[in-house]
Amino acid sequence: MGKNRRIRPLSDSVLMEGRNLWTINANPGVAVRGESLRKFRGVEHRRWDPNRSKLGAGLLRTRNDPSMLLPSPGSTVLYLGAGHGTTISHLHDHLCGASNQHRGRLVAVDLAPRCLRDLTHLAENRPGLVPVLGDARKFDAWGVLLPSRVDWLFQDVAQAGQVDIFLSAVRRFLSKDGIGLLSLKAASERHQEGTDHDIFASAIAQLSNEVELIEHINLTGFEDQHALFVVRRR
Ligand SMILES: C[S@@+](CC[C@H](N)C(=O)[O-])C[C@H]1O[C@@H](n2cnc3c(N)ncnc32)[C@H](O)[C@@H]1O
Repeated sequence: MGKNRRIRPLSDSVLMEGRNLWTINANPGVAVRGESLRKFRGVEHRRWDPNRSKLGAGLLRTRNDPSMLLPSPGSTVLYLGAGHGTTISHLHDHLCGASNQHRGRLVAVDLAPRCLRDLTHLAENRPGLVPVLGDARKFDAWGVLLPSRVDWLFQDVAQAGQVDIFLSAVRRFLSKDGIGLLSLKAASERHQEGTDHDIFASAIAQLSNEVELIEHINLTGFEDQHALFVVRRR
């Protein structure tokens, strides 16, 4: 399978093989959501499914260098709307690696207790992953876990007011020149008038007032009614 596909490393731990993404498994032998495990040059990788991860879809869709969408291994990052940990697990492979060899820190916030149960279970064998039961809008309650600013911030909360929540987090947590990624679900902004296109256009206008908009990635086909906005803090 796929033996002749072009293999392109996006980092020491993330591979693009044709249109497939793989990360070196930081917890060897264990699949997180039933994904395929496969060895490349004797090292076990997990398939990163772009249909279940907007960051994964963004890596495949971006018109820029995909490695620009990833944080530096060994850095501290903030992820709002961690869910059950699908994307988080691949990000952890990249940022921390087995036994947190890169010394990264992935602060993963979600307000649903059922998600926290899964994230806490995941963190048992993934040092560097810090699950937080919290509301992205109320960061005074958990912001103490991030004493200094981060260079990379991701948000995927799928609730009304996504751009406001994101910009508040950018102001509070993102360092100057840091990269922020906002996954925007148009269907969660139904209180606004207009089509999905109007909702994305309004998000672009609001973001551009405050941050540099690097790219608007349309995720249709992977996640309908979703876009991923990549910004840099001025
Ligand atoms: C689409 S899911 C996230 C999927 C995840 N990012 C992934 O790729 O695996 C959205 C998550 O945002 C969480 N969420 C919604 N509103 C939130 C808020 N205000 N603060 C923190 N988490 C929130 C939900 O509980 C849900 O788990």
